[in-house]
Amino acid sequence: MYGKIMLINGPNLNMLGVRPPEIYGTDTLADIEKMVIDEGKTLGFEVECFQSNSEGALIDCIHSCFKRVDAIILNAGAYTHYSYAIRDAIETVMLPVAEVHLSDIHKREEFRHTSVIEDVCAFQICGHGKAGYIEALHKLKDEFIK
Ligand code: DQA
Repeated sequence: MYGKIMLINGPNLNMLGVRPPEIYGTDTLADIEKMVIDEGKTLGFEVECFQSNSEGALIDCIHSCFKRVDAIILNAGAYTHYSYAIRDAIETVMLPVAEVHLSDIHKREEFRHTSVIEDVCAFQICGHGKAGYIEALHKLKDEFIK
């Protein structure tokens, strides 16, 4: 039986491929989504993808996961650093959430060093580029999904 993973990307991640490639790489979001869907399939998961620039839409998507998916992979973009509303949504759905960032937020501007979602997420992977999403998939499967 297939499990289900929701891949959620937040603001400005629809512009991957255009955003500075030395920070975010050259892949588009469609490339990354396809990569995660394909790897998910090999691991026995159906991966559903969602992207929005709007905080409320991201929260609605997280709520839609309640009792419906096994885990979430979330790159909340800049909302990571200040959205208590997204933090509360993650806490509410009681699912393992992998926090992923393409860049290493701890080595960039000071305002990016803080993640207000980190302690309600299962773990954080940052600075590994697109490979971070694949690592998240494997770690969720191996350590967090029964
Ligand atoms: C990001 C890091 C955030 O600080 C930034 O605002 C993003 C992308 C990353 O994937 O490295 O939009 O989450």
